[in-house]
Amino acid sequence: MSASTKRTKVKTAEPEIEVMKASEAPVEAPEEAKVTPKKKILFVASEAAPFIATGGLAEVIGSLSKALARDEKYDVRVVIPLYQDIKKEYRKDFKFIGNTYVSLSWRNQYCGVFEYTQDNVTYYFLDNEYYFKRPGCYGYYDDGERFAFFCRGVMEVMNFIGFYPDIMHCHDWQAALAALYLKTIYCFRPEYQFIRAVFTIHNIEYQGKYSLDILEDLFGISYHFQNLVEYDRCINLMKGAIECCECFSTVSPTYAQEIKDPYYSHGLDPIIRRNEFKLRGILNGIDPDYYNPATDVALFENYSEEDLRGKAVCKEELQRMLNLPVKPDTPVVAMITRLVTHKGLDLVKEVIEQALRQDMQFVILGTGDSSYENYFSDLARRYPGKVVSVISFNSDLSRKIYSGADIFLMPSKSEPCGLSQMIASRYGTVAIVRETGGLKDSITPYGAGGNGFTFRDYNAYDMLYVINEAIGVYRNKEAWKELIIKAMRTDFTWASSAREYEEMYRNLLK
Ligand code: GLC
Repeated sequence: MSASTKRTKVKTAEPEIEVMKASEAPVEAPEEAKVTPKKKILFVASEAAPFIATGGLAEVIGSLSKALARDEKYDVRVVIPLYQDIKKEYRKDFKFIGNTYVSLSWRNQYCGVFEYTQDNVTYYFLDNEYYFKRPGCYGYYDDGERFAFFCRGVMEVMNFIGFYPDIMHCHDWQAALAALYLKTIYCFRPEYQFIRAVFTIHNIEYQGKYSLDILEDLFGISYHFQNLVEYDRCINLMKGAIECCECFSTVSPTYAQEIKDPYYSHGLDPIIRRNEFKLRGILNGIDPDYYNPATDVALFENYSEEDLRGKAVCKEELQRMLNLPVKPDTPVVAMITRLVTHKGLDLVKEVIEQALRQDMQFVILGTGDSSYENYFSDLARRYPGKVVSVISFNSDLSRKIYSGADIFLMPSKSEPCGLSQMIASRYGTVAIVRETGGLKDSITPYGAGGNGFTFRDYNAYDMLYVINEAIGVYRNKEAWKELIIKAMRTDFTWASSAREYEEMYRNLLK
């Protein structure tokens, strides 16, 4: 009851009741004074840029949360593990806000909580040195246990900090258990009962598969719920999250269609099709401030679409740095990629030597399977002055390549979204992509007035044809400049995609 409301006790035959005089009834607050509580969104993920990143997932967590938090309507928070490799420059400013304990089957583990705020987004880092004081993020024999601890920790930390989100948005298999714990354990507690779970698939290849034997003993989920997580006689955490969440999404409209098909689904297509009614495909964006050729300090020289002179300097300096002949009129075709099969490297292997017969230079940066690493190192040895392969993960060099190259090649066999084609375009490096997943949704063919070059079938000669087509256009200076500007002007920001996420959240909160 508001302090200003006067109440009068009235004597009647009935027991005493309180009557509020009309004149004294609370007055409706004026429009501007009404405060609608912010909608609380919690991202649960295994990595987030700029703190720790092994790939596109981290960038999306960092940039989408920032884009959503720009809207006053949302209180956006992100929770990730406190890995040993979290960048020191940030870590020193994390604030320790206390600790709780997380029980996981028979285990009872310490869970420290650190907090940090940036761009209106509050980040939490869950600390347990036994699980996370190791180099890197993944690839350990006990990853299942590590992320089970993390997800159970997320659920406990909600209670510890008193933050029960309206939307708990889990990303990829490492966060899938949070959705499972919500639906099998926590939703029976009053504070958790209104939390809606959203699950986003960034790559369906990695599903989190384990033996059914450890469902109770390791994941702490009763066999009563076995049907939720079981698939192909295994625990499949991604399948479990899809079944449990109110809504799930993937990172491009085309990939949302593709994963219904066995060619792309890595076995999960029956589950995707069964849950299709709650599936959405929302194209990722990039942070235009973070990737901005006009301000990026990693570049040899800055430039913009109004004044492209700096791009020529970037190319010249890149050639010099990589010991390639400095030739302004020789097209530099680049790839920056993990060296794994689904990136389409077999197509490149098949025809690159034919492409190299013409005047071009080829630069590849990345790490991955040793067979590809060896192949590209050998190619560089056989084509000195034409091919450079840098087998490493180097963010500074990647920006020098994005800005200094002319053509960016991304012939993926499958690609949920892909961010590199967007970054390359933003830096005026024209993309050649295969029409799959987010590549199809972001790059449109030059012949139809688009911003790059595309080919449809997973066929090396189709790719070679398009490489030659792109080099043909490159030789026409005016046409090429126009194409560069078109690529740079394409809107790859989060503006429209963040609205699609908001709409998805709104529908769930109705
Ligand atoms: C994964 C996908 C990639 C996507 C990224 C961010 O790394 O392989 O295509 O862009 O997640 O969603």
